Amino acid sequence: MPLTIHNLNHQIHDGHIERWLLTRVSLNIAPGECVALTGDSGSGKTTLLNLIAGLEPLQQGQIYVAGQGLRHAGDKTLSQLRRQTLAMIFQHYNLLSSLNVSDNISFSARLAGRYDQSHSLSLARNLGIDHLLDHYPDTLSGGEMQRVAIARALGTRPKLLLADEPTGNLDNNNSDKVIEQLLSLAKSHHSALLMVTHSASIAGKMDKIYQLKDGQLNQQSCGG
Ligand SMILES: Nc1ncnc2c1ncn2[C@@H]1O[C@H](COP(=O)(O)OP(=O)(O)O)[C@@H](O)[C@H]1O
Ligand SMILES: [Mg+2]
Repeated sequence: MPLTIHNLNHQIHDGHIERWLLTRVSLNIAPGECVALTGDSGSGKTTLLNLIAGLEPLQQGQIYVAGQGLRHAGDKTLSQLRRQTLAMIFQHYNLLSSLNVSDNISFSARLAGRYDQSHSLSLARNLGIDHLLDHYPDTLSGGEMQRVAIARALGTRPKLLLADEPTGNLDNNNSDKVIEQLLSLAKSHHSALLMVTHSASIAGKMDKIYQLKDGQLNQQSCGG
């Protein structure tokens, strides 16, 4: 399994009070499965992704990413997991402004020791950005920047792709196209995808929809 979450509880300090942000959260994502994560602002979606990425320590419960338990895992294991097994896509793209598109795409794959020029080029072609390879991020539109970030993420051949409101900065038309490309590439690469989205239409294109509410994670019916 790319992702298994078992009985996760997570407490945060809210001013002087401690409160449970996540309670008894459990989730399984199968290889190639595309899952939407919805919930009101402040419900804990980004915190959950950060816990899965090993960026915040686990307090109670366990998370397995591709079989590796994160609780009590050392920094070396966690950083290796982030390089080799996981990939992340953010709302603000997080491209490196000093690198052109081609080098942005290859950056993560090189770090993972998995750079393959023909794979990178094929991703760029599939995403329709192969004519931009020698351009720099500040000359690109939002939709183009997010396509570069998607190519960079998939270039590492991740088992699990985490995306936090990846189309939050794009208009509806652009956003639908980017999501369709992302879903079809995740499927063809057998990468599982967990994507935070506020859009019901985007969530409706995914295999499963989960909602975070009052600390609990519950599956919703798709298309209803
Ligand atoms: N490390 C932290 N310490 C204190 N509060 C936090 C911490 N991380 C997140 N929060 C709070 O937890 C809540 C959930 O935040 P977040 O996960 O960003 O929600 P979402 O992504 O669903 O909007 C917010 O109220 C936020 O201020
Ligand atoms: Mg968030």
